[in-house]
Amino acid sequence: MTPATARGPAAVVSAIGAALPMNIVSNDDLTTRLDTTDEWIRSRTGITHRHIAGADQSTTDLAVRAAAQALTSGEPEQVDALVVATTTPDHCCPATAPAVATRLGLTGIPAYDLAAGCTGFLYALATAAGLIASGTARTVLAVGADRLASLPHPEDRTTVPLFGDGAGAMVLRHGSADETGALGPMVLGSDGTGADLIRASRPGALHMDGADVFRHAVDRMSTASRRVVAAAGWDLGDVDRLVPHQANGRITSFVARRLGVPDGRQLSNVAEVGNTGAASIPLLLAQAAADGRLGPGHRTLLTAFGAGLTWGAVALTWPDLSPARLPKGAGHDR
Ligand code: COA
Repeated sequence: MTPATARGPAAVVSAIGAALPMNIVSNDDLTTRLDTTDEWIRSRTGITHRHIAGADQSTTDLAVRAAAQALTSGEPEQVDALVVATTTPDHCCPATAPAVATRLGLTGIPAYDLAAGCTGFLYALATAAGLIASGTARTVLAVGADRLASLPHPEDRTTVPLFGDGAGAMVLRHGSADETGALGPMVLGSDGTGADLIRASRPGALHMDGADVFRHAVDRMSTASRRVVAAAGWDLGDVDRLVPHQANGRITSFVARRLGVPDGRQLSNVAEVGNTGAASIPLLLAQAAADGRLGPGHRTLLTAFGAGLTWGAVALTWPDLSPARLPKGAGHDR
C-alpha cells in the first residue's frame, strides 16, 4: 500500500486513556503450573509480569474503562463515532463497540469492531482518520481492547507466558495536518498466506509458530517503519520515540536495532504487561505520556504486527496534552 496521508481534515490526538486488570501474574506464579522458569521467560521475551482479567471482567469492561479515562482526561468533546479493535470480543455477535458506546452514554453513534490482530489499533487509527477526513465524524474514539491471555491453552508453556489483558483508548478530533498531534502518513498491510502462523479457532486453542512469527514481525515492522518515516519526510535519526507493538522484548529490540533507533528512544512496557494485542500501543502511549517518557513535540513512530498476518506504521508528532489531559495513574484499576 502506498503510504497514505490525510486529504480532508486531519485526525488530531486530543486525549488518551488506558485500563489494566488488577490481578498481576508473575513469571514465578506461572512456574507453579507450567514447566518453565522465570529466567527462560525473561531471557526469551523480556516479560516479568502480566495483568490477567478475572472471569467477571470482559473485553467490554476493559474497553469502557480505558475509554472513560480518555474522555475524562481530555476537554469535554462530543464523540461522533466509536471503533473498537479487538481479537477477543465477548461474543461472535453482537460486536463489542455498541455496548461500549451505550455504557459511555453514547447510544446512537456509529460503533463497530474491527479485527486486525495485534495491528488492530493502527487500523482503528486509519479508520478514525478516514471518518474525520470524509466529514462523517468530527470526533472519534478509537479503542484497542483484548483479553489475549484467554487464547493460549492453559498448559501450553510456549504461549501462556507471552500474553496479558488490557485496553487503551484515544480521542481523535478533526483539525489540520500541520497541527501537532495530527496523524501523519500511515502504512498498513496484510498477507493471508501467513494465516496459519498465529491462529485460534476459540479461546484456549491458540496455535503459534513462534520462530516464523518472530522473523515476520521484525521484517514487517521494520519495513513499514522505514516507509512511513520516508513518507513523513523524516530520517530515521529524527525519530524521538519508537513505539512498537509490545509483542516481546527481543522482537522490539531487533526492530529498533534494524532501524538504528537507540535504546533510549524506544518506549517499552512489555516487562510489566506482556503482549496485550490491540491494547498494546495505546496502553504504552498512555503510560508514557503520563510518566513523561513521551512529551510534546516528540516525533513518534508507531508500528505493529499481528495475526492475519497484518502490520502497519503511523508517524505523528506527539501533542501538548496539558497535565489535566493526561490520564492519572494510567492503566491501573482503581
Ligand atoms: N519455558 C521453558 N522452556 C520452553 C518454554 C518455556 N516457557 N517454551 C518453550 N520452551 C522450550 C521449547 O520446548 C524448546 O525446547 P526443545 O528445544 O527441547 O524442543 C526450547 O524451549 C526452544 O523453543 P523455541 O520455540 O525454539 O524458543 P524460542 O527461542 O524461539 O522462543 C518464543 C520462543 C515464543 C519466545 C519466540 O519464538 C517468540 O518470541 N516468537 C514470537 C512470539 C510473538 O511475539 N507472538 C505474537 C506476535 S503479535
